[in-house]
Amino acid sequence: MIVRRARARDLEAVLRLWATARSQAASTPDDAPGVAHAIEQGALLVAEDAGAIIGTLIAGWDGWRGNMYRLAVAPDRRRLGIASQLVEAGETLLRSRGARRITALVGREDRVAMALWRAAGYGHDAGIARFVRNL
Ligand SMILES: CC(C)(COP(=O)(O)OP(=O)(O)OC[C@H]1O[C@@H](n2cnc3c(N)ncnc32)[C@H](O)[C@@H]1OP(=O)(O)O)[C@@H](O)C(=O)NCCC(=O)NCCS
Repeated sequence: MIVRRARARDLEAVLRLWATARSQAASTPDDAPGVAHAIEQGALLVAEDAGAIIGTLIAGWDGWRGNMYRLAVAPDRRRLGIASQLVEAGETLLRSRGARRITALVGREDRVAMALWRAAGYGHDAGIARFVRNL
């Protein structure tokens, strides 16, 4: 298994994976233009095994902070440390781009996702509220 930057030809495989491994808290649609943008920005990481895409992470850098989205692992490949490896690779990428702090958005009621981020060493920041607006 390797973790690498996604390439344009991974687009359909990423969408197929997200159709089976979407966070309960995700609200933006998973569509080809959105995935293509993330790939062009060099922000989409994939875990690949024997030619199959089995995990993803978007590690975005906005020039100030790092943000992680769309951490997902194929249902039949869970509890093998794949998400942990993706997060580590995302941290390496964001650190190399200049990030000093990383945020991950996690559904408060999502027991599995909360456990994952805690296990990865992220603290729950209960003091900050998130304000959002769709464009
Ligand atoms: C959350 C998700 C990405 C975890 O992927 P994974 O590859 O199974 O995670 P890992 O094997 O790296 O788990 C690392 C640690 O996280 C915690 N963890 C992961 N899954 C867990 C579960 N189902 N229950 C409790 N703890 C869990 C454990 O501490 C685990 O370490 P351990 O296996 O040694 O106990 C995966 O379940 C998934 O794709 N879920 C659907 C999409 C989603 O909700 N993504 C999160 C968005 S914030």
